Amino acid sequence: MCGIVGYIGYRDAYPILIKGLQRLEYRGYDSAGVALFDGTNINLAKTKGKVEDLNKKAETDISLKGTLGIGHTRWATHGVPNDINSHPHYSNSGNLVIIHNGIIENYESIKKELLKRGYTFHSETDTEVLVNLIEEVQKTEDVKLGKAVQIALNQVVGAYAIAVFDLKKPDEIVVAKLGSPLAIGVGDKEFFIASDASPFIEFTNNAVYLEDEEMAIVRLGKEIKLRKIKDDAIAYPNILELQLNLEEIEKGGYEHFMLKEIYEQPRAILDTYRGRLLADQGLIRMAGIDQNLEKFLNANRIIIVACGTSWHAGLVAEYIFEDLARIPVEVEYASEFRYRNPVITDKDVLIAISQSGETADTLAAIKLAKEKGAFVFGVCNVVGSSIARETDAGAYTHAGPEIGVASTKAFTTQITVLTLIALKLAKEKGEFSSSKFHEFLTELETIPAKVEKALESNTLIEIIADVYKDSENCLYLGRGYNFPVALEGALKLKEISYIHAEGYPAAEMKHGPIALIDEQMPVIVIATKKGHYEKVVSNIQEIKSRKGKIIAVVTEGDKQVRSLADHVVEVPETLESLTPLLTTIPLQLLSYHIAVMRGCNVDQPRNLAKSVTVE
Ligand code: G6P
Repeated sequence: MCGIVGYIGYRDAYPILIKGLQRLEYRGYDSAGVALFDGTNINLAKTKGKVEDLNKKAETDISLKGTLGIGHTRWATHGVPNDINSHPHYSNSGNLVIIHNGIIENYESIKKELLKRGYTFHSETDTEVLVNLIEEVQKTEDVKLGKAVQIALNQVVGAYAIAVFDLKKPDEIVVAKLGSPLAIGVGDKEFFIASDASPFIEFTNNAVYLEDEEMAIVRLGKEIKLRKIKDDAIAYPNILELQLNLEEIEKGGYEHFMLKEIYEQPRAILDTYRGRLLADQGLIRMAGIDQNLEKFLNANRIIIVACGTSWHAGLVAEYIFEDLARIPVEVEYASEFRYRNPVITDKDVLIAISQSGETADTLAAIKLAKEKGAFVFGVCNVVGSSIARETDAGAYTHAGPEIGVASTKAFTTQITVLTLIALKLAKEKGEFSSSKFHEFLTELETIPAKVEKALESNTLIEIIADVYKDSENCLYLGRGYNFPVALEGALKLKEISYIHAEGYPAAEMKHGPIALIDEQMPVIVIATKKGHYEKVVSNIQEIKSRKGKIIAVVTEGDKQVRSLADHVVEVPETLESLTPLLTTIPLQLLSYHIAVMRGCNVDQPRNLAKSVTVE
């Protein structure tokens, strides 16, 4: 959601900003803009639409000279997506220019005050209010930009990652963060600013991630200066050496990031358990669990909070934890949990699942649980993200950067991490014999190869996609472990092809969705051999007798469902609790191909953002 980039150094800033904005496109946006300082003036271009539209506009409208600049992709919150509301925004004097990711909640009262003092506003945004507040502070308090930003931010309520510079002092950019991510790339005599490291990774892998309520002044030829926004205390930059490489954030020959990421799953799952799953020693080693084992073993219950696809991974985890480790689990939407005054005690363990580690509702749920004394464990993909830092302990998924907005490898790697945790707890609690534990570990080790096998159905799935690409509705059914997979399959289709889809527990179909079934309705049924197979076969009969079209995901070699279904996609056999890792694959491919055939923007679906940093 909103992406910010900035550069100050000796190179031409414009290509760095444009390339950087393209790398941040995955976050979701509806307009884009840049502002460059050419040595005398600020040149600003912005437009509704894509970064390539901005590029065309900037090339014809403004001078692209300059070694200092900022750029932005906007996901509209206050004010519709249009050219005027796009960032950057000038202050009234035209001296200050700002980009902002987040929401200033009290902008209306500040705006009223500024209007009284003669300020005028061109856009409907909260950001234009902020830049004018900074200007007003600069004037009335007669302070430098850094101090003015600090004073202004102490008057605002909300969330922000901002970058601002001053025409009168064009050797520095001031940045600040609360609630939205902000990274500073530290090069040799140059600095990069971005929402994540992808815009600058080919220039430097040294980065500082600002903490909440921190600001920094990046000044040409100087060290970075960090300070706390609230009390002015000096903060010391922790310069991290990033492992990310350029290849990981490029498409690598695939037409879309989503397809690349679907195909990366065998490797991603392997990376997730590498070094943790030691089958030959009969061990699972996870530092975050090992060091906090008592908390888990003594927990009254585990509460899982997450949003979107991560919430679906949480539902799978509920089945795994209860089935294998016999620990009670509740799974909640973070957005509901945070506002419903939940009963939480210090005997609860809260697991927060988040690919990005930046989802605002999940972060708020974590803060609430911590206040109430719960132990909070994070399962995140993005290293160093806010959730990874805010939790008491955690485990990374190691999926590598996920750029496609529709989550794929994040889902399967989250399930892998959660399975490892459940297995470890099951063993520690004595729920498992050594041989059963060993059976699970060795089976888990076969999953990457089995996912590879499941991916071989791609051509068949493309044929099926062609048959159903014009459908208006779709139903996904599964039972037990595969009920959350049905929900995830439906979400994938909705997100990227805009076809209405619903996921349901197969047996619940009789309590509503069955009324929708006719010859127009494709029903995707997960009917693997283990886990209520006969019951699902009955559900398939019910659909068939109402002339619904059946696309079944079955275990290799299945004959019974094959004789009933219109289309059958096979996945290899595995333990029941591991089936979601395989049954998810055909559903991801199906939604991908349907979306491509419908001409949809698969990697950046309309209205969606990869990282939802506002509530
Ligand atoms: C957005 C994304 C989804 C993601 C959800 C939760 O809606 O488009 O793909 O599942 O946020 O994000 P998180 O980063 O917390 O997993």
